[in-house]
Amino acid sequence: MRIPVIAGNWKMNLDRAAAIALARAVRDGVAMRPAGAPPVEVGVTPAYPYLEAVRGLLRGGPIWVGGQDLSPEKNGAFTGEVSAAMLADIGCSHVLVGHSERRQMGESAELCGRKVAAALAGALIPVLCVGETLAQRDAGKTAAVVLEQFESGVRGVAAADVSRLLVAYEPVWAIGTGRNATAAQAGEVHALLRDCAARNWSRAAADSLRILYGGSVKPENAAELLAVPDIDGALVGGAALTAPSFLKIIDACPNRAR
Ligand code: PGA
Repeated sequence: MRIPVIAGNWKMNLDRAAAIALARAVRDGVAMRPAGAPPVEVGVTPAYPYLEAVRGLLRGGPIWVGGQDLSPEKNGAFTGEVSAAMLADIGCSHVLVGHSERRQMGESAELCGRKVAAALAGALIPVLCVGETLAQRDAGKTAAVVLEQFESGVRGVAAADVSRLLVAYEPVWAIGTGRNATAAQAGEVHALLRDCAARNWSRAAADSLRILYGGSVKPENAAELLAVPDIDGALVGGAALTAPSFLKIIDACPNRAR
């Protein structure tokens, strides 16, 4: 049984007051879900300066807080970097790794693999993001690109740690563009990723791996995407910046607890 995850990636948005107001509204909205509502895991990744304030507000509740990136190094002379231990120290449980907006700035698949390993070693759950550009899709390279990002990203992950890993398939052409992958397009790549996970570890490990979809997820398209059996949740950017739309996406999750 894979409980869906809806994670809000706030990116470099909001100021302190707005981040706190959004966290409060999401917290209250999640708390008001009816007892019989389908179980959903919810998380948010605010910008570094607001992590601790948001974490303080959500402490003791069900919503996890994660960083948007981390250093592959433990500590030392790495100006501007933040370590897994620092994120864990302020109460983060998760961290995004290899978001396409970072890969576009030059982050390699190999570096993403080191970041996944650093996150796991630091007791954080990495959310490994993978996805192809439009040019790569048009050239028929989607599977090759996504599977290479995935395999490099999880190179050091033991089968026993797969339950502590999240993957997000985010086609670059769908991020922030308003143009989401169709349920069929996303489902196809999710199935490829799960088969790759089965080859890498075992069928049982692959069946436990939660693979989220990201890229222009909105209240209007969430139910159709989340109904795909291989889609285990969503990583949401723009629509996570207001509580009503984020909460509607949470409510669009099917009941996977049955
Ligand atoms: P979007 O962003 O929902 O605004 O497309 C998704 C993401 O970048 O994680």
